Amino acid sequence: MDNFILQNGVKIPCIGLGTWENRDEKSVVDTISEAINCGYRHIDTAAVYANEQYIGKAINSIGINRQDLFITSKVWNTERGYAKTMRAFEKTLNNLQTDYLDLYLVHWPASPSKYDNWAELNAETWHALEDLYKMQKVRAIGVSNFWIHHLEQLLNVANIVPMVNQIEYHPGYRQSYVVDYCKAHNMLVEAWSPLGRGKMFSIPELIQIAKKYNVSVAQVCVKWCLQNGILPLPKSTKPERLKENADIEGFTIAPDDMRIINSLQLESSSGQIPDEIDF
Ligand code: A2P
Repeated sequence: MDNFILQNGVKIPCIGLGTWENRDEKSVVDTISEAINCGYRHIDTAAVYANEQYIGKAINSIGINRQDLFITSKVWNTERGYAKTMRAFEKTLNNLQTDYLDLYLVHWPASPSKYDNWAELNAETWHALEDLYKMQKVRAIGVSNFWIHHLEQLLNVANIVPMVNQIEYHPGYRQSYVVDYCKAHNMLVEAWSPLGRGKMFSIPELIQIAKKYNVSVAQVCVKWCLQNGILPLPKSTKPERLKENADIEGFTIAPDDMRIINSLQLESSSGQIPDEIDF
């Protein structure tokens, strides 16, 4: 499988390159060139990652056709609301040196613990994304880090159901209730930090399963996401790891091993909880 297909028929390459915390110009340009060389066609960024302009520069200098890439970015928390989101989007396009995005996401929901008017704020931001979609400036729209109560409120007022929800997802933090809700509403779940930011590498069950298939724990995590119908966004800046994380064709995790991973009793989330974040 090379692509997932979103609810509006848009194809999205089934592994994306995570770029969080890669904000040094040379590192970003080198990573993007290397990733494209080894077959990545899907790049996930965000305004707050402060690397959009370097990604734009890298893509431009490589000379790859824009249509051959799938580029996602996200509107940051300080830019919520209709007018600010519209302005943030234009800045993102400018930074990325492109005239459209493949996917634009609301980075984090405004939450009831922080804002009395949280539902309204999310609705206004969402209406901006809907208009960008109608204006054909983005091929797909979605959200990130939305839990069920955020999604329920949004669906009350949305004219377009979010096509994607990007959440933290790895064997140590599976958020099954959110995943089930998204699948029931035909929203593709994308996994940020599918390797648990490296924390998965020391989990004995994962080490054992990786040995059994003669692959790395990182490859097990990526494949496990895909076999659960979730799109992984592993992040690396190292050429050999970029290759490794995308080289997952040669094995299939057997149902028994999937069950082991799907029932691991771990609580190793990053701690970035949508209703608690203070940024
Ligand atoms: P680096 O960028 O130096 O390769 P996640 O995608 O879950 O957020 O994890 C990203 C972290 O895991 C980064 O610190 C990255 O470091 C590291 N990483 C990515 N791929 C691999 C790999 N195949 N083996 C070991 N570490 C990896």
